[in-house]
Amino acid sequence: MLEVRNLKVTYRGGGRAVPAVRGVDLTLDAGQTLGLAGESGSGKSTLAMSLLRLLPSAAEVTGQVLYQGEDLLTARWSRLRAVRWAEASVVFQGAMTALNPVHTIGDQLAEPILLHGRRAGEEGGRISGRQAHARAAELLESVGVPARRMRSYPHEFSGGQRQRIMIAMALACRPNLIIADEPTTALDVMVQAQILDLLSDLVRDEGIGVIMISHDLSVLGQMCDRLAVMYAGELVESGPSRQVLDDPRHPYTRALSRAFPTIGDPASRRAPAGLPGDPPDLAALGSGCPFAARCPDAHEVCDSTPVELRPAGPGRQSACLRVLPGFPNVSTASDMPGPSAEGARS
Ligand SMILES: Nc1ncnc2c1ncn2[C@@H]1O[C@H](COP(=O)(O)OP(=O)(O)OP(=O)(O)O)[C@@H](O)[C@H]1O
Ligand SMILES: [Mg+2]
Repeated sequence: MLEVRNLKVTYRGGGRAVPAVRGVDLTLDAGQTLGLAGESGSGKSTLAMSLLRLLPSAAEVTGQVLYQGEDLLTARWSRLRAVRWAEASVVFQGAMTALNPVHTIGDQLAEPILLHGRRAGEEGGRISGRQAHARAAELLESVGVPARRMRSYPHEFSGGQRQRIMIAMALACRPNLIIADEPTTALDVMVQAQILDLLSDLVRDEGIGVIMISHDLSVLGQMCDRLAVMYAGELVESGPSRQVLDDPRHPYTRALSRAFPTIGDPASRRAPAGLPGDPPDLAALGSGCPFAARCPDAHEVCDSTPVELRPAGPGRQSACLRVLPGFPNVSTASDMPGPSAEGARS
């Protein structure tokens, strides 16, 4: 359904160029959920927004975003408008700022249906205002908000309700693809669980493909078929989510998963371990691995050797030089220590 090839986004302004996404390749099949993980500033939202050309004009975007084989980066505006909402929609990061405070929820939900919706079975048939509001009420109910709240304003809802309304809005025109940017960040765990259940039901019942962004690996592990981990604008690892979490092939993924506490089975409980240092300045990156300065496994060659995603086992990829045969101390990908192995830090 979606194939992203060599996607690069550079923000320009004030005499600076910030390469926020630096050559990303991704694929997503219909009905599949792809998780995009990475710490703050790694380029997740930039990548997500560039897919539907939602970035400000200061962002220079190159590469290809093939939606059902058609490149959205070069598509005409009229075609792009037809794809937005109706085929692919976005749950924006931060429901309070994404919803318009001066319009009722009912009007906001009905708007994309009026602008982009079509009457079922009729290719060109426009939907009426009454039909759009009826569909909006139905959507609201489907995410657990009573339809009688259609005339309420965003500030009259709780954070969790607003987030659910954002999801309802993304579903308004029955898209094939939803890009959900941190849909549960800043919500308490109970509301988070409700929203994740809602999203999983939709994927299962409607066969919607989802790109789900989060810095919370446990959320992504629960929700996603595949996981892609971003660092400094690049994908550093990708693969089936369970495998990526249980047996990371990149030191950054390993550090990210160690930053979460484990609960449950007392035998496997461990305290979270932080990752010292900060992400690099994107405007001043060197030629080697961008993670080298913080990497517990770094070798001299890492500072100067360019890295790219390489095969790291069946269905898996890693941008760590360690997957290369002949890398100092490590000869094959299978020698990579797993999350529980002590070898990584020592
Ligand atoms: N409009 C902009 N102009 C210049 N730089 C920007 C702009 N928007 C984002 N950036 C920079 O691009 C990089 C990636 O930002 P982005 O918002 O994509 O990160 P993120 O991974 O979504 O982070 P978070 O987890 O905090 O949402 C950051 O270094 C950020 O400072
Ligand atoms: Mg973001």
